Amino acid sequence: MVVTSLIERKRDGVALDPAEWRALVDDYVAGRVPDYQVSALLMAVVWRGLSTDELAALTDAMIASGDRLRFEGLGRPVLDKHSTGGVGDKVSLVLAPMVASCGVAVPMMSGRGLGHTGGTLDKLESIPGFRTGLALREIEAQIQRLGCAMIGQTPEIAPADRKLYALRDVTGTVESIPLISASIMSKKLAEGLGGLVLDVKAGSGAFIPGRDRAIELARTMIGLGETRSCPTVALLTAMDRPLGRACGCALEVEEALQGLGGEGPDDLMEVTYALGVEMLLLAGVEHDPVGARRRLEKAIASGQALETFRRVVEAQGGDPMVIDDPGILPQADAVEVFRSPATGTVASVDPRIIGRAVVALGGGRNTLADAVDPTVGFVITVKPGDRVKAGQPLASVFARDAAGIALGLDALARAITTEGEPAPLPLVSHRITAAGVETLEHPASA
Ligand code: URA
Repeated sequence: MVVTSLIERKRDGVALDPAEWRALVDDYVAGRVPDYQVSALLMAVVWRGLSTDELAALTDAMIASGDRLRFEGLGRPVLDKHSTGGVGDKVSLVLAPMVASCGVAVPMMSGRGLGHTGGTLDKLESIPGFRTGLALREIEAQIQRLGCAMIGQTPEIAPADRKLYALRDVTGTVESIPLISASIMSKKLAEGLGGLVLDVKAGSGAFIPGRDRAIELARTMIGLGETRSCPTVALLTAMDRPLGRACGCALEVEEALQGLGGEGPDDLMEVTYALGVEMLLLAGVEHDPVGARRRLEKAIASGQALETFRRVVEAQGGDPMVIDDPGILPQADAVEVFRSPATGTVASVDPRIIGRAVVALGGGRNTLADAVDPTVGFVITVKPGDRVKAGQPLASVFARDAAGIALGLDALARAITTEGEPAPLPLVSHRITAAGVETLEHPASA
């Protein structure tokens, strides 16, 4: 295969044949095409997009690059959720055990950090001993036994996405509707799901910030799901400020444990419940949103969701003591409080500045070979609209050393502003299905 010609044609806006996409994906996974050529092609896709046929061919080739999970005869519906990526987004850690406690099997398959956003796998791996790399048959057995697994793409599931995802992370090629759609849907469709709920982020910290383009992203993924026998629903949720308070792997696990224990931050729990409601409705275990929400709240209040998480941690080699004592999570060497420089109203907490700072602190990757430091990050206790006084503690930085603290304090000073009018996006603004787009909540300024 002459990859140079594919790159040049894509660069010039020509659609490649489905057979060319299939051959390219096969050759890339087999190591016959180098990363640098695929990087160039991905960049051409970022600029030129993909036609519907190209997107379908790419997604199908990515699915076909590996095996599939099989859940026949399980006796309960199998559903998953996926987020398009955010800062402080630890929803999966709370949602999977919560929904699994309501009679739906959840093989939560997640990714690693991507760009300025954190990845559920990196977060889970901050739990001492936790293994995310389960083999296919192990996942199926755990789903049979516990109804829940929290896993990465095994080498068998969409290996093409695994490779492309890591490459996109370090080549500035994440922000593309077709590439995000193919990435998410290839791994999700290989899971053998009975339904999928998508958390599509909008706002300055999202890969696709604008509302209309985020809706287009949702519709693109829904199209791929529905035409491949996987009923798919999306919610558009706010990513113009970090979700919850904690940003950084171990800090987010600790916050997720608070959520499972009934003490999570309101915004985190609202988004988690909203997605959980969609999962229970799509699974057919509940038929109205009010009943679904009640059932989810009960799973949290009764401790059932936390217990499911404990079992998952144990089954996957993690130390279950973490549930009762989050202090066993890896801890940062240096911690410093950030205080408000002025009195006023918080106008914004910029999630991109925070996400990039987590990466710069060592909590994300700059190159393929980088290891993630689970201890670093931020806990930010203010949201847009909060009144603050000069000198009031607004956040904490968790770092390896004094240089990290300085970097973190500088990022907070830039991210948290008190100038201008706060205009936060509604937390859950739209519900998107194959039938159309429903507006749930209008922006405060609308
Ligand atoms: N999540 C994914 O799995 N892939 C993307 O491209 C973006 C978010």
